[in-house]
Amino acid sequence: MSSTKNSLANKSKAWSGRFAEPVDALVQRYTSSLRFDQRLALVDIAGSLAHAEMLAAQKIISKADFVAIKKGMAQIEKEITAGKFDWQLALEDVHLNIEARLTKLIGDAGKRLHTGRSRNDQVATDIRLWLRTEIDHILVDLKRLRTALLDQAEKHAATIMPGHTHLQVAQPVTFGHHMMAYYEMFTRDAERLLSCRKRVNQLPLGAAALAGTTYPIDRERVAKTLGFDGVCQNSLDAVSDRDFAIEFCAAASILMMHVSRLSEELILWLSPRFGFIDLPDRFCTGSSIMPQKKNPDVPELARGKTGRVNGNLIALLTLMKGQPLAYNKDNQEDKEPLFDTVDTVAETVQIFADMVPHISVNQELMLGAAEEGFATATDLADYLVKKGMPFRDAHEAVAHAVKLCVKKNCALSDLSLTELIKACGLNPKSSVVSKDVFIVLTPKGSVEARNHLGGTAPKQVIAAVKRARTALKNN
Ligand code: ARG
Repeated sequence: MSSTKNSLANKSKAWSGRFAEPVDALVQRYTSSLRFDQRLALVDIAGSLAHAEMLAAQKIISKADFVAIKKGMAQIEKEITAGKFDWQLALEDVHLNIEARLTKLIGDAGKRLHTGRSRNDQVATDIRLWLRTEIDHILVDLKRLRTALLDQAEKHAATIMPGHTHLQVAQPVTFGHHMMAYYEMFTRDAERLLSCRKRVNQLPLGAAALAGTTYPIDRERVAKTLGFDGVCQNSLDAVSDRDFAIEFCAAASILMMHVSRLSEELILWLSPRFGFIDLPDRFCTGSSIMPQKKNPDVPELARGKTGRVNGNLIALLTLMKGQPLAYNKDNQEDKEPLFDTVDTVAETVQIFADMVPHISVNQELMLGAAEEGFATATDLADYLVKKGMPFRDAHEAVAHAVKLCVKKNCALSDLSLTELIKACGLNPKSSVVSKDVFIVLTPKGSVEARNHLGGTAPKQVIAAVKRARTALKNN
């Protein structure tokens, strides 16, 4: 860039008066946020209009100036949405680009817009306005996902599958109960996002650069116009902290952790080794070399993307931790991690809300797997306890029965009554074990017996779905 050109570029900057030489071209690129903060353009305009309206109401600028600003901003909004706005890197960021264009369109009135404010409170306002709307969008899709889980749970309230601990068959559960576990997780995620939204939705504008302003501004009026729940109570805090964005990223990381756990299960269940579920082809991809493959790319990518969302959280925490009050340019680095988190989480939740209703279940295979691995051994121990045996003794007795089955390569329910009694070390004559023991040895008897709040019994799953549907209506 020639020096005349460079100095011209510098002249157009809002702060050029103080400088004796043009900004270095690389520095210009290095310090500009235009590449990524353009997406704040529309909320930037909304914030400016609310500010200008208040300035006019407080007689800090004239009514005519406000009318001109409104007109100019309408034109700018049109240019931006039509993709016709001439963004200038030399103008550093979205705020200065819009202001410069406004001044070009309406003259002095445009120059009066920045009265009583700074880019420091302006940018904090923009991010909050933008983020609150994004939270609302995510919550809509999260609700769809939760509803899909409820529908699956209701449909499969009595579908038996093996429950695992240590990824080994532990006890039979129902697929409905399993789906409801995720419903609970995603419900807490929705609550976290809603709670975070309250702290996001506070107005920084009026803090100006850091100390407030000498004009008789009315911050409550601006907050009301923009739909904020309240006003940031300290100007230094208002312009400098990004804890609201960090809090969102923390909630997003937890949400993605839950998506990632569900993904891990979908991947396992889809593998032919398990074969528990299937997904429609439109949610899977093939292999370019192995013609037989149908890969679970969506859950695998979701599991992978959880890493970058976690990374963004750490980036923001690290960005903030060394900053003295008040605003520092470091904060310009808040946008990319935040935007990336929003984009990743929004798309992930959307795709899961689309996909979960179409998970189909191979009930036979699931039941077969639940019958393997002595999944009802605890039920047998509980049966003995109910007949008067202390639990530790019952545990030991059943362990012997399992040992016999391993030797015979059969299931507990394959033993004859006499074999079972003997294996448990009981006296066959006075034995308390009778034929009804075979009911508790079936996976169906096992799940039905866990009939209490939070248990896996089909009745309890149906009741849990019902409670959840009522709660979901209200949020
Ligand atoms: N682009 C800046 C940011 O994203 C706007 C605020 C700049 N303020 C300043 N004093 N340089 O944070």
